[in-house]
Amino acid sequence: MARVQGKVAFITGAARGQGRSHAVRLAQEGADIIGIDICEAIPENQYPPATEEDLQETVRQVEALDRRIIAEKADVRDFEQLKAVVDRGVAELGRLDIVCANAGIAGRFNRSEDIPDDEWANMLDINLSGVWRTCKAAIPHLKAGGRGGSIILTSSDAGLFAYENISHYVSAKHGMVGLMRTLALELAPDMIRVNSIHPTTVDTPMVNNEAVFKLFRPDLEHPTVDDFAEAATAMNALPIPWVEAVDISNAVLFLASDEARYITGVPLPVDAGAAVK
Ligand SMILES: NC(=O)c1ccc[n+]([C@@H]2O[C@H](COP(=O)([O-])OP(=O)(O)OC[C@H]3O[C@@H](n4cnc5c(N)ncnc54)[C@H](O)[C@@H]3O)[C@@H](O)[C@H]2O)c1
Repeated sequence: MARVQGKVAFITGAARGQGRSHAVRLAQEGADIIGIDICEAIPENQYPPATEEDLQETVRQVEALDRRIIAEKADVRDFEQLKAVVDRGVAELGRLDIVCANAGIAGRFNRSEDIPDDEWANMLDINLSGVWRTCKAAIPHLKAGGRGGSIILTSSDAGLFAYENISHYVSAKHGMVGLMRTLALELAPDMIRVNSIHPTTVDTPMVNNEAVFKLFRPDLEHPTVDDFAEAATAMNALPIPWVEAVDISNAVLFLASDEARYITGVPLPVDAGAAVK
């Protein structure tokens, strides 16, 4: 099994959750990794931040697979930071083939008219502009390689339809589909493919916290994880509350591999049928 053997993948939000899972899954199939994460608190997030120790654990897990990894602290709101890490990563690892624009935040939940200006702006800056900056830092390397490539943007089911109380998140995740489609057209002559993934609930620290339990169960004062699971199950067609990070990584791996060589411009739900419900 070496579906991305010898390729190099740039992954944002690599310290934990889906980003770490993508790093490990791609490394299992032969890729080397360039990973970044902010490893710092975002004030409006209502769950604990990823840490530098988390990013080091990703390094440990990738190296345990005998793959190489360049991992740095960087913020997707800062293009120069991203560019510096990708440039160094490509200089050391020799090439770039795969981009996973995965970093994102959930922010605070509010009716649209109650979202503070700075929280709206920060959401768009990280979850949409950060994805664009990630691509902007990577595209020159993909083009220079002359071997094509695969860019995978992590959107959400919230990039396909609406959820109340998170219009900033929904707007950023929908916006990403426009970016994905435009990049797919712009980069097609270079055989660089661009697709987005739309997960349903994924079991990561972003959702496994009381603020999200309350978002899903506004009817309860102190909802438990079981109350949350009930509401999360109701969203999906398949009778499961959430998927695991590796389920998203397997879709990333497919899109990154040559098995998907003619797939571009596609918003791919990995959502237990939530989009058809
Ligand atoms: N968990 C879910 O249910 C779910 C569902 C659909 C989509 N998503 C999306 O999946 C992606 C990954 O989220 P996750 O579930 O693994 O959550 P997570 O919180 O475990 O991971 C997100 C990572 O992104 C990093 N990050 C946040 N802001 C950053 C910034 N400015 N610069 C660099 N790194 C930053 C965080 O430090 C964290 O390590 C996000 O884009 C999220 O919106 C999650």
